[in-house]
Amino acid sequence: MNAPLTIALPKGRLLDSVATHLEQRGLNLTFEKRQLSAQDPTGFLKAYKVKNHDLPAYVHHGIAGLGIAGDDTVAESGHTFTRVATLPFGGTRLCLAAPVGTAVPDGRNGPVTVATSYVRMTREWFHQRGIPVKIIRLDGSVELAPVLGLAPYIVDLVETGSTLKANGLEVIQDMRTIQVRLLANPAYFKLHYREIRQLSDIMNMNVD
Ligand code: PRP
Repeated sequence: MNAPLTIALPKGRLLDSVATHLEQRGLNLTFEKRQLSAQDPTGFLKAYKVKNHDLPAYVHHGIAGLGIAGDDTVAESGHTFTRVATLPFGGTRLCLAAPVGTAVPDGRNGPVTVATSYVRMTREWFHQRGIPVKIIRLDGSVELAPVLGLAPYIVDLVETGSTLKANGLEVIQDMRTIQVRLLANPAYFKLHYREIRQLSDIMNMNVD
């Protein structure tokens, strides 16, 4: 029997959806208390639970051959992966937001100050439009920045919009959609092409 496919899964809110999705399709990954790895009883898949932000490093270095991550995580990592398939849930939008009524910045009055955890995507978006930008990097609770006067604008993921609304903010520009992908280390993909296709079939996903 072949060795199991290895996959890195992100801790956090995506993990439950992914584990449930796999379980409904006969791949049961039960992480025992505090354990960070789990193998399904059929021996097809071995999973590692890692921090979202660290996931690209594990797949890039081939420690896990596969990973499930959002476009945001991949874009911020700077690594290139083989995109195998798109998951049917977990999609969000990356948005520029500010206090209600704020105009879209054009940079005519000097650099635009933006607080965000998504530094690469933010820099790229402003550069593509020729708008000078000063980025303040934050790890979370970014919505506080305009409220407390750290930065007039934020770039963040928006799902329902309720966090923005609760803090007196609104989307002033949609920047891009973010999907959740099944990714592969390019060398691993070539070596395990057939089993990986089998996994995307089991997961019932549209192959990219
Ligand atoms: C994410 C994101 C927003 C919020 C958006 O934060 O950064 O804060 O969800 O969701 P909503 O539009 O449905 O309100 P997360 O909860 O992952 O934590 P964070 O703020 O620490 O990044």
